[in-house]
Amino acid sequence: MRAGEPSETARRVATYRLRFPRAPASLGDPAADDRLQADIAAARQPRTTGLTDYLSRRTAFFDHTVVDAIEDGIAQIVVVGAGYDARALRYAKPGVDWFELDHPDTQADKRSRLERLGIGAAGVTFVGMDFAQVDVGAALRHAGHDRGRVSLFVCEGVAGYLSYEVLRSLLAALSRCAAAGSRLAISIPLQPTSSRGQAGRAALATAVAQVGEPLVTALRRAQLATLLETTGWTEVRVADPSGATLDGDAGGAAFVIAEPAG
Ligand SMILES: C[S@@+](CC[C@H](N)C(=O)[O-])C[C@H]1O[C@@H](n2cnc3c(N)ncnc32)[C@H](O)[C@@H]1O
Repeated sequence: MRAGEPSETARRVATYRLRFPRAPASLGDPAADDRLQADIAAARQPRTTGLTDYLSRRTAFFDHTVVDAIEDGIAQIVVVGAGYDARALRYAKPGVDWFELDHPDTQADKRSRLERLGIGAAGVTFVGMDFAQVDVGAALRHAGHDRGRVSLFVCEGVAGYLSYEVLRSLLAALSRCAAAGSRLAISIPLQPTSSRGQAGRAALATAVAQVGEPLVTALRRAQLATLLETTGWTEVRVADPSGATLDGDAGGAAFVIAEPAG
């Protein structure tokens, strides 16, 4: 990320997301979410690119994961690398506590937009941090997260921007905060195996590197299994963006649901 500036990739995702169908929920304030995304997208031309379909599917995966968790009674949701994701508004429900972790520069911009737009975020605790610098578990605890209660941890579109070591320590920290019954939902870039996939990844890598946010981590399917195992998580479901179970290396990304090991 560029020092002192909010994440440009987070802004781009918000611009795309504004056009996607969203999972409905009986409570919450979808209009507040839409207003925030529209504020970010202002003056940007919505374009259809090679990423559109992928991001639409990713949005649907995380929307449904959040809605399902709330319906199942999970009342603590930690959004890791939240960017301009406003599911905390869209799916707000009395009694559900949200924690948004993000780089302070991105989070400050989000909070100032919410304030300017007059959008309250009373159910959200904002915790600014650089995952490479801080003890994520301690920061969460200081922010009021209760590791004795079940949580959903959401990590959308972040893993590829973290070094493998930072990703490892982040996932290990989250598992130590995860009571039995908690869930982790994370998208992880996989190393493309086809020449088409490699070309797509190279184009994306160039585009994000140009805005100061290089993609640094992409795993093989087997490495993903090891990463989860060694950080205290057990795979529940690993799918490709189409929703098909992912056993081998095919697929440019994995959408993962995991639970605390043991
Ligand atoms: C591509 S954006 C995704 C944002 C959001 N999850 C979404 O899907 O809209 C990546 C996010 O990761 C955050 N991020 C990247 N590196 C980080 C770091 N080292 N510490 C904290 N946050 C980081 C950025 O601020 C940004 O919000």
